[in-house]
Amino acid sequence: MNIQTNYQLQDLNSFKVNVAAKYFVEVLSITELKEVLADKKLLNNKWLILGGGSNILFTKNFDGFVIKNSISGITVINENDKEVFIEAGAGVDWDKLVEYCVNNNYGGIENLSLIPGNVGAAPVQNIGAYGQELNQPFHSLTGLYMNTGDEQTFSKSECEFGYRDSIFKNKLKNEFAITSVQLKLKKNPDVNLSYLQVKDELFSHNISAPTISDVRNAVIAIRNSKLPDPKKIGNAGSFFKNPVIELEKFKAIKNNYPEIKSFSEGKDKVKISAAWLIEKCGWKEKIIGDAGVHQKQPLVIVNYGKAKGEDILKLSEKIKKSVSDKFDIILDNEVNII
Ligand code: FAD
Ligand code: EPU
Repeated sequence: MNIQTNYQLQDLNSFKVNVAAKYFVEVLSITELKEVLADKKLLNNKWLILGGGSNILFTKNFDGFVIKNSISGITVINENDKEVFIEAGAGVDWDKLVEYCVNNNYGGIENLSLIPGNVGAAPVQNIGAYGQELNQPFHSLTGLYMNTGDEQTFSKSECEFGYRDSIFKNKLKNEFAITSVQLKLKKNPDVNLSYLQVKDELFSHNISAPTISDVRNAVIAIRNSKLPDPKKIGNAGSFFKNPVIELEKFKAIKNNYPEIKSFSEGKDKVKISAAWLIEKCGWKEKIIGDAGVHQKQPLVIVNYGKAKGEDILKLSEKIKKSVSDKFDIILDNEVNII
């Protein structure tokens, strides 16, 4: 176990903000994680569990312990004729897991291709894209309570998954370190073409009977066409969640903007596009200093160079204020502000 001090985090967060951690340690196993948890320095400091750093905005140096969870390994733990149960370590790159599953024709996560970050963070916000959410193929996860080191396994219902939400973002925020995730995948998978853009992409390549591998390729093509590559431009994907609003409020907006789209969320609520709201407030392509609103997807705030975390935060707050003033809707952050 190698605890380092004043550790630079610029290459460990996808916004590429230049900050340092007072203490930094990378753990490669549960044993190493337990050793860190037993260290007295940890008790006297605040801590942060870090995966790939692709859903975090550091607004200042981190005055505590950053624990990078790099526990590896992908294993088939059980199978029958129809299903396979896969366990992956929290430090496995999420898209490597998707690639492994697609290559073995294990279906259920192919629409989640190319989402940056690690397996351990995937349940934290119940990652979702192109018609799939992690909670669908999710079976269980295992981890440790940071305060006691006690191990626990959580079933799907115990994770309290919601849209970009789980117990690990709420009651157990920063209290529980996920060490592995278990998924239940299909051996003879159906493809999920519920997202129109995926269907269109396959159609444009004349693919009429797609496999999960075709779906993965389509999702990768769509993502590459509209989302900035964090290796080239700092960003953390969608900065805000899409708001879920009362039907009555939606009808009032639709009176003024008949083109607005909505997705039903039960009887009295609808989800609407935060990107659309932000664009309507005139923010698309706006740049303040080195922080800007992406030209293809206004829900993505980007760092064009040397923006500080607080510059990005200030821009996000201005956007929120405009949306609140114009539409009376409060956008919730998806990104974890530290
Ligand atoms: P980090 O940023 O390192 O951490 C995120 C949070 O999880 C933090 O609060 C952290 O403390 C906590 N955490 C991390 N690891 C653990 C652990 N092992 N145990 C407990 N807590 C932990 N997300 C989507 O849902 N759908 C998308 O389509 C999508 N597209 C994206 C596109 C781009 C270009 C980018 C940059 C991001 C996108 N995201 C998307 C957001 C991001 O990829 C996901 O939230 C991802 O799961 C974050 O993983 P990470 O390992 O980088 O997490
Ligand atoms: N739109 C605009 N202007 C634009 C671009 C988009 O108004 O310039 C509107 C359009 O109405 C469009 C709608 O936004 O129909 C949807 O755009 P997109 O398909 O890109 O989806 P999104 O709602 O912006 C969500 C997720 C993404 C996920 C995609 C695909 C959230 C907060 N974001 O984005 O997840 O990849 O759907 O499923 O739910 C992330 O969480 O970081 C993320 C990137």
